Amino acid sequence: VAERIPLSYNPIDIEALTDVLKSHEGLHHNQLVTDFEIAIQNLTGSPYVLALNSGTSAIHLGLKALGVGLDDYVFVSTFTFIGSVNPILYLGAQPVFIDSEEETWNMDPVLLEKALTDFANSKKLPKAIIVVHTYGMPAKMDEILRISARFSVPVLEDAAEAIGSLFTGKHAGTLGKAGILSFNHNKMVTTFGGGALLTADVNIYQKAKLFASQASKSEEVYSYEEVGYNYRLGPLNAAYGLLSLSNLDENVRIRRQNLDTYKQLFGSTARCRWQTEGVGRFSNFWLSCVLLDTETEKNFVVAKLAKQLVETRPLWKPMHLQKVFSQFIFFTSGVAEKLQSTGLCLPSSNNLDIKQQLSIIKALKG
Ligand SMILES: Cc1ncc(COP(=O)(O)O)c(C=O)c1O
Repeated sequence: VAERIPLSYNPIDIEALTDVLKSHEGLHHNQLVTDFEIAIQNLTGSPYVLALNSGTSAIHLGLKALGVGLDDYVFVSTFTFIGSVNPILYLGAQPVFIDSEEETWNMDPVLLEKALTDFANSKKLPKAIIVVHTYGMPAKMDEILRISARFSVPVLEDAAEAIGSLFTGKHAGTLGKAGILSFNHNKMVTTFGGGALLTADVNIYQKAKLFASQASKSEEVYSYEEVGYNYRLGPLNAAYGLLSLSNLDENVRIRRQNLDTYKQLFGSTARCRWQTEGVGRFSNFWLSCVLLDTETEKNFVVAKLAKQLVETRPLWKPMHLQKVFSQFIFFTSGVAEKLQSTGLCLPSSNNLDIKQQLSIIKALKG
């Protein structure tokens, strides 16, 4: 039987998890959550970190803390996972989709400026801009922050996939007014379900913290003034997060190596393109993603690998093409659609070995 090669798999390390739990024996369970938050603070340099039960809830609370509400606009990358967008709708606000540039595959600063100018003239400015760092690659944050500051619109960084990625030496998720991380089961750092909100703004932190725990005010037990959510991270999840975080540097090294190996091996196989780091950007390369020449070529490769039990994924279908968001405004250039039609994500697990990568390339060539 051929070996199945998954896209991004985190085996559960039971022994190491037991060690973390033993180290906290007798303490309040929430100490695990607090320690995980401190570990993320230490890693990223973010002054405030709120551990939550998903990246999606982190975006929801981040937007809420930024004051997003009914009929507000929120600009968001169209080339993303739907978890970036759904929270906008939870708040009764309207997404406006912005296309990508070709270098990093992230929000195009030129289109962002066009959209902001257009909205400033004809409607009202958005309450926030959600910039996604896709597959771990930092967006062009210098330009994006310069433009957003000119219009005084805050940026929420969706760094769900970008823990350990840097932009000019700063951690993804710490460059905007707030940022989020995801720790779901296939992420670089996993809690097997979880996320975090990062910010340097104490008001954003306090608001998000309040709403994460049923809007329950600590001064008065069981008395409430607003509707809240149950969004805090569980202690067992945090325990795994502590363990997983301690392997981050090594895993970033491995995932960057995975990509380098693919680049070398693919070299002779196909004409292809990859996300580009360029100056000032350091990607964790969470997933190795490749663009082939045509959609036909991509479909051929996906089918061929699937036969060999190699799991691949297409790149995202842009949000402005989703039925569920069909009534919303978009600013597009065709880049995201091209990414989707010709691109795919290759197996990228931390425990992927060179033998598996060679067998993937062999399957492609054979
Ligand atoms: C870009 C992006 N945004 C948001 C999310 C949502 O994170 P979560 O699955 O933890 O809710 C994810 C992850 O799945 C993601 O990849």
